Amino acid sequence: MIRLRRLRKNDKIRDMLNENRIYLSDFIYPLFVIEGYNIKNEIKSMPDVYQMSIDNILRECENLQNLGVSHIILFGIPDIKDSIGSSALSQDSIVARAVRAIKERFGDMIISVDLCFCEYTDHGHCGILDSNNYVDNDKTLEILAKQAVILAASGADIIAPSAMMDGQIKAIRNILDSNNFVNTLIMSYSTKFASAFYGPFRDVADSTPSFGDRKTYQQNPANRNEAIRESLIDESEGADILMVKPVLSYLDIVRDIRENSLLPLAVYNVSGEYAMLKAAALAGLIDYERTLLEMMVSFKRAGADIIISYHTKEIANLI
Ligand code: PBG
Repeated sequence: MIRLRRLRKNDKIRDMLNENRIYLSDFIYPLFVIEGYNIKNEIKSMPDVYQMSIDNILRECENLQNLGVSHIILFGIPDIKDSIGSSALSQDSIVARAVRAIKERFGDMIISVDLCFCEYTDHGHCGILDSNNYVDNDKTLEILAKQAVILAASGADIIAPSAMMDGQIKAIRNILDSNNFVNTLIMSYSTKFASAFYGPFRDVADSTPSFGDRKTYQQNPANRNEAIRESLIDESEGADILMVKPVLSYLDIVRDIRENSLLPLAVYNVSGEYAMLKAAALAGLIDYERTLLEMMVSFKRAGADIIISYHTKEIANLI
C-alpha cells in the first residue's frame, strides 16, 4: 500500500519534507508617516498600526532593526490636500523627508515608497480628475512620473506605483532612467482589485474617495484573465517586481501570475485582512498565532516571493 503517513512520521521527517517556509527577509512592513512632531495616532480598526511623525518613525525603525526587519514601505499623510495632490510634488513632501531622515540614520533599511495620489488629493481619487470627474489617465501619468523622480532622488530604493493608471510603469521607468536613477527598482501594484478589504487602510491613510469609488481604474474581483493581463502588461513595460493585492481571496490569481511570469512576485496582505484576524483573536475565536502562520505560508505556497504585511513585527517574534 502507498502510505503517505510514512512521510509524516515525526517532526524531523516532516521538517525535511517541508515544501514552503516563510523567512523574515520575505517581509515588507508598511509605515504611515504624518506631519508634525511626537505624533502617534492609533487607528481603531487596525490595532497596533499608527500614524507617526518622522521622529517616531525613526524610533520605529530602530525597533525594526532590533527585530531584524530590514524592509519597509512608506505611505504619506500630508497636512495640505488639493485637487492635484501638489504636496506630493515637492522635495519637501512628507514621504521625501521621511526617506531622507531614515536613510541618514538607518542606511541599511530598504525603503519602498507607495506612489499614488489618493492621500494627497482633496477628492481622494488616485490622480487628476477630468471635467466628468473621471481620473484623467494621461495627465496623472505626468504627476506620477514627477513624484517618482522626487522619491528616487530622496533615496527610495523601490518605487511602488499603486494608482492603476495605464502606462504608468513605462512612464515611470522612462523618467527614472533619463534622470540617472537606473538602479531604482519598480515594484508595481500590477494586479490590484477594487476591493472592500482596503477599508481600514483608508482610515489610516485618510484616503477615502469623497465621491464614487475606484472601479474605473482598479480591477473587477470577478475577472481572472484580466488580472493576469494587467500583470503581464506591467512586466512588458519594465516592472522589476509584480504584485497581487489583496491576497487572501486571490490566491488563485497569485498562482496564475506565478505560472505566467518569471518576475519576483509580491502579495499585499491588506488592512481588511489584518483587521479581520485581529478581531477574531480579540474575540477569542481562533488560535491567533497558528492561524497567522498558516496564512503566511499559504501565500508562499501560492507562489509569492515577497509579503507586504502589517503582521511583520509579530512574524519577527514568531519565527
Ligand atoms: C493606494 C493604496 C491603497 C492601499 C495601498 N495603496 C488603498 C486603495 O487603493 O484604496 C491599501 C492597502 C491596505 O488596505 O492595507 N495608495
